[in-house]
Amino acid sequence: MSEESAEKKIILSGIQPTGVFTLGNYLGAVKSWKDLQEAYNCYYFIADLHSLTIHIDPVKRRQQTRQAFALLLACGIDTEKSLVFVQSHNKCHAEMGWIMDCCSQFGELSRMTQFKDKSQKHPDNINAGLFTYPALMAGDILLYQADYVPVGADQTQHLEFTRDVATRFNHTYGEIFKLPEGYFPKAGARVMSLQDPTSKMSKSDTNPKATISILDDEKTILRKFKSAVTDSDAEVRYDVENKPGVSNLMTIYSAITGKTMDEITGEFRGKGYGDFKQTVGQAVADELKPIREKFDELMNDRAFLDAEMKKGAERATRIASKTLTKAKKRVGLLLEN
Ligand code: TRP
Repeated sequence: MSEESAEKKIILSGIQPTGVFTLGNYLGAVKSWKDLQEAYNCYYFIADLHSLTIHIDPVKRRQQTRQAFALLLACGIDTEKSLVFVQSHNKCHAEMGWIMDCCSQFGELSRMTQFKDKSQKHPDNINAGLFTYPALMAGDILLYQADYVPVGADQTQHLEFTRDVATRFNHTYGEIFKLPEGYFPKAGARVMSLQDPTSKMSKSDTNPKATISILDDEKTILRKFKSAVTDSDAEVRYDVENKPGVSNLMTIYSAITGKTMDEITGEFRGKGYGDFKQTVGQAVADELKPIREKFDELMNDRAFLDAEMKKGAERATRIASKTLTKAKKRVGLLLEN
């Protein structure tokens, strides 16, 4: 597929290489990314530049970037249909990021809730990148003239910021950027911790029983579901307020099987939580097994992965450099030759 096939709308999203995805990342985002590939031109990237805002061991960062790329492919993102690349492999991002920095105001960046949260979490490393993170993200999106950006609730403020910066640029220098809209997939599930179902399932949870990694094996998955927190009234019914644990398991089961909450209630009427947890765990294990196998195969074929990354980088650079050149011209940078 060529980037000139303009009939389809463009969807773009990025994911940080901060460790193996959880079932939450998968059901909340990546699974729907796969489904979008037919109807849209999809551009997906590993946001390794964004990950620099948090300090981790460089060897680990490299490894996680490679793994994240392989995971996207293992989850069914097809490089024949979609553009998949590593952000830092396309130099346009860093360059556009600086132009966006210079269009961003201190005041608006100061109001970003993610900046406030992350500064609190890492008080010893409140670096400038953490502060200008949304400007880099605006550049990521605007470079590709994306129509839609699937993001979780934690990123909607950044998307709003992107629209503000784009509007300001267009107004000051002339219309060159398309204003992106959020894309909120119907199927996107918000998966909660198995141990504390009132908080989101998170990679960084210290209790390993709380989180399913998409690379967990069947035995581990079944064991974790068995010990998932529920309640004592033995009724499979969707009620987030009063039955957060059971509702979370229903959300997971529904996201995998496509069954409605009513259908699920019917399926488990008169049965105990034991059966319910076993069935949900098995559904998850069956869904993740081919992903784990594909991931192992990809990680063992370094040459193939490298070639795919290179292809992605070249195509991403080709597309983005068109917009970057326009932006550089508009702000009055002297273009070489
Ligand atoms: N900030 C996003 C996150 O942490 C990752 C990201 C970077 C992104 N650039 C993007 C998402 C552009 C969508 C579009 O989840």
